[in-house]
Amino acid sequence: MSSSSTIESVLVENRVFPPDARATEGARIAGMAAYEALCQRAASDFEGFWADQARANVVWSKPFTRTLDESRAPFYKWFDDGELNASANCLDKHIGTPVENKTAIVFEADDGTVTSVTYKELLARVSQFANALKTQGIAKGDRVIIYMPMTIEGVVAMQACARIGATHSVVFGGFSAKALQERIIDAGAKAVVTANFQMRGGKELPLKAIVDDAIALGGCDTLQTVLVYERTASAWNRVEGRDKTFTEVLQGQSSECAPQPVGAEHPLFILYTSGSTGKPKGVQHATGGYLLWAKLTMDWTFDIRPEDVFWCTADIGWITGHTYVAYGPLAAGATQVVFEGIPTFPHAGRFWQMIEKHKVSIFYTAPTAIRSLIKAADSDEKVHPKNWDLGSLRILGSVGEPINPEAWMWYHVNVGREKCPIVDTFWQTETGGHVITPLPGATPLVPGSCTLPLPGIMAAIVDETGKDIPNGSGGMLVIKRPWPSMIRTIWNDPERFKKSYFPEEMGGTIYLAGDGAVRSADRGYFRITGRIDDVLNVSGHRLGTMEIESALVAKTDLVAEAAVVGRPDDVTGEAVCAFVVLKRSRPTGEEAKAIAAELRNWVAKEIGPIAKPKDIRFGDNLPKTRSGKIMRRLLRSIAKGEAITQDTSTLENPAILEQLAQSN
Ligand code: PRX
Repeated sequence: MSSSSTIESVLVENRVFPPDARATEGARIAGMAAYEALCQRAASDFEGFWADQARANVVWSKPFTRTLDESRAPFYKWFDDGELNASANCLDKHIGTPVENKTAIVFEADDGTVTSVTYKELLARVSQFANALKTQGIAKGDRVIIYMPMTIEGVVAMQACARIGATHSVVFGGFSAKALQERIIDAGAKAVVTANFQMRGGKELPLKAIVDDAIALGGCDTLQTVLVYERTASAWNRVEGRDKTFTEVLQGQSSECAPQPVGAEHPLFILYTSGSTGKPKGVQHATGGYLLWAKLTMDWTFDIRPEDVFWCTADIGWITGHTYVAYGPLAAGATQVVFEGIPTFPHAGRFWQMIEKHKVSIFYTAPTAIRSLIKAADSDEKVHPKNWDLGSLRILGSVGEPINPEAWMWYHVNVGREKCPIVDTFWQTETGGHVITPLPGATPLVPGSCTLPLPGIMAAIVDETGKDIPNGSGGMLVIKRPWPSMIRTIWNDPERFKKSYFPEEMGGTIYLAGDGAVRSADRGYFRITGRIDDVLNVSGHRLGTMEIESALVAKTDLVAEAAVVGRPDDVTGEAVCAFVVLKRSRPTGEEAKAIAAELRNWVAKEIGPIAKPKDIRFGDNLPKTRSGKIMRRLLRSIAKGEAITQDTSTLENPAILEQLAQSN
């Protein structure tokens, strides 16, 4: 079976794939009985269970005596009188063990150049950079923005912050100057770590120039230093007194730097993500619980073994790149691949070629990437995975969005050669790491289902009042008890934290994920049905509809009003669809195309290219109720190209529906 169309015709929904003997043998959690025993232990002695895990998996410089403090719920605290250092848990811990001379990172650049570092070397580089940060006046508790390409240096910068107790906030290199400026201001960052350029798909793209633009927008009053990694030889504009190169600040720095112990609740990082308002949320994670999760899920979900070569394709700008590039693999002492480039350059077989070349045994990527590579392989045999030896693979992973059964089957057959379990990991920026996922040596797999919660994760599906919904019916996904790696607060906005995640109607202490889900009637397996708020998932990237609307209406010379909805897309999962009312008359034909292009570029400038609407439709106005509320469900139907079957009797201006359906 090589083409996706063949697989689409397979009735996959009822298919169950029990764990292969290769995966079960020697697995940490081997078989469902072992999984259930762990769940049982967590249910009967919740705190004891987590205390044991935290003692076994984390090196504490000062042991904790309190496991969970719920006195200020939902502001939960874990292991809070303990002290540790996250970088020491990823690096120093391995010194004096066989891991010290093991390769920590194999870096493949966009152009295919490969470099690697051992654990010992990585520790020296992180320590040197940590000393450099200190010389620049960065100390425990300060915030550092990291706006870096996928490089060893990006990981070094994150680890160095952790080493001195500075809180990092990584901003994805595809975000715009405006988005960067907002994050610098909100975080109150003292320094920005960046690169002159980044290489993607053979192109040299600016990063430092965007930092300059961000600062020029104003308001970055806390910012003192910009540190620039010279990724390429190309010239860049230096602001004297503020900008320094890596070479300059690393000059003469010792490669030893004692890790700064911090309290378990000390903020390790802030990562901004989209919510249901225009302003991104600074999701704050705590050092102890997060580090525990990064290590534990490497063991549980990936069953990581000393000989594994782990490759997570996510960028360090996203949570997946935090937990499964910058922290988890290092805490586990694994060898990992870090890739600078894109899956389609110089050809769409790049991933498969890299798996063969680096003998990757655990491969973790997003459904969007899989879907786009299916498309590429369908149209060009030469980039089909069958052209490469993928025999090193042991476990496959999926993350970021629902994986449709067709893509699951293709991944299973063509990449896993029907031998590798696929762990479809459900989690979020807020959960810190996996929360609902199969275990490779235990869980029978069902395509399209993230199966069951990890031990100790009290996931459930409920109605608006928090009442459990029976298996087989859809509802809202919640987690009823806290867990160590959960979001601690929204930076600078504890009220928004409470409101967004812990609804009063459910008692105020239950975590609301923001996703709809359903459990299967037979196995109780979870299937995520998508966001229930105004958040879109485009290519596995989270985007707020309000954020894009705000960006559109910020084009004040042109746009009067805008509404943004998502519609299903074969490759990207969801696509952004914008309905726009202009300040001038409604354009048509070529003029409409030109204005749509202008607005797309505008959104790219305001947020980043990932937020560009795929469709822009112009209307004389938008469908609204008599009280002035935009009826988004109607817009969603129009975006999908569906006939309107909903009740439109409350609509102020029903004629607009036809106009919007026709305009494009
Ligand atoms: O809607 C869910 C979807 O991605 C959202 C979280 O996005 P973000 O915070 O950017 O983190 C992405 C990487 C963990 C969720 O609310 N999502 C994530 N993983 C899955 C998923 N939907 C279905 N299945 C998954 N495995």
